[in-house]
Amino acid sequence: MTSTTSQNLFDSLQMGDLTLKNRAVLAPLTRGRAGDARLATPVMAEYYRQRAGAGLLITEAAAVSQRGNAWVGTPGIYTGEQAESWEQVVEAAHSKGSRIFLQLWFGGRASHSNILDGELPVAPSAIAIDGEGVHTKQGKVPHEVPRALETDEIPGIVQDYLSAAKLAHLAGFDGVEVHSANGYLLDQFLQSKTNKRADEYGGNVENRFRLLREVIAAISTVFASNRIGVRFSPNGVFNDMGSQDYRETVLYAAGELGRMDLAYLHVLDGLGFGFHELGTPVTLAEIREVYTGMLMGNCGYELDTAQQAIASGAADAIAFGRPFISNPDLLDRFQNGWPLADSDPETWFGGDMQGTAYTDFPAYQA
Ligand SMILES: Cc1cc2nc3c(=O)[nH]c(=O)nc-3n(C[C@H](O)[C@H](O)[C@H](O)COP(=O)(O)O)c2cc1C
Repeated sequence: MTSTTSQNLFDSLQMGDLTLKNRAVLAPLTRGRAGDARLATPVMAEYYRQRAGAGLLITEAAAVSQRGNAWVGTPGIYTGEQAESWEQVVEAAHSKGSRIFLQLWFGGRASHSNILDGELPVAPSAIAIDGEGVHTKQGKVPHEVPRALETDEIPGIVQDYLSAAKLAHLAGFDGVEVHSANGYLLDQFLQSKTNKRADEYGGNVENRFRLLREVIAAISTVFASNRIGVRFSPNGVFNDMGSQDYRETVLYAAGELGRMDLAYLHVLDGLGFGFHELGTPVTLAEIREVYTGMLMGNCGYELDTAQQAIASGAADAIAFGRPFISNPDLLDRFQNGWPLADSDPETWFGGDMQGTAYTDFPAYQA
């Protein structure tokens, strides 16, 4: 359900049964500070507390199983210890009146055997990423050709998501976001560029959507559907994505999700995280035609463009990623017209666990 009475970033928003204090969202940001144990830490809790000016926090991607990992130092949600470690993050968000969803992640071909105890990463098809490489403990290493999942292995992938959702629920998260964007496993299944399967999980768009449908159905046994969000990146090129039928694919998928009474659909509509240039970008307006629930835009938004998107009704909420890294008090800065601080991309994906370039960005001093 979407409230259409207020049309300002700072206004509250009804999202299913939850009232968000405003329409600004912390976008999921992998920061690589979870260490080898892939546990949420007190420093991470502090990081989220600092950014809880946003009505909704979406956590950094958390792997749904050991084999779902695809990065060094990223957290997981596949052991009881991990679930317990996340409780402090949930409490931090709630203590500031913010809501928090955990992003559920399976890397697929974006991973590497260095991360997976020597096993090859899995994917819909044996097609390697043509790109810069993967962040592992050995540094950045070239991508490998993944192993195509057998059809009878797919229920096991769905099971990974189900187990992760149960642990996220135990940790107290308000909901989960299913990461089906940026070239990770579910996006690999959805997109024709990476899915060349001949079974019922490949071929036409209905089949390519099947795994996401099954994942949502499984998770819906743990969280009510209106506590589940989904993320898409139809215009993106990250992880070597971009399919000729990108528009048809996302409009079909969004239409199907529109019948599931989800918390929200989160779309990287902006082009500032890379654009495949295969045609004109998919817009929020197009998604709106097929998806009537709460719609969240993201990518390259600033205060004025976010306000325009919300005022025009193109989006119900806007997620901010990079601006939140160096501006923990982003909402205060927006509201008061204070300048924004920059961050160094070298520090985005990891580094000092004690907070350097992580929790030590100050709030604005007037
Ligand atoms: C350091 C960094 C980490 C990111 N990690 C994630 C992630 O874990 N999950 C995800 O869906 N997107 C991730 N993204 C993409 C962001 O959520 C967002 O879509 C992107 O930064 C564009 O939005 P912005 O222009 O507001 O930064 C990441 C981006 C950056 C810069």
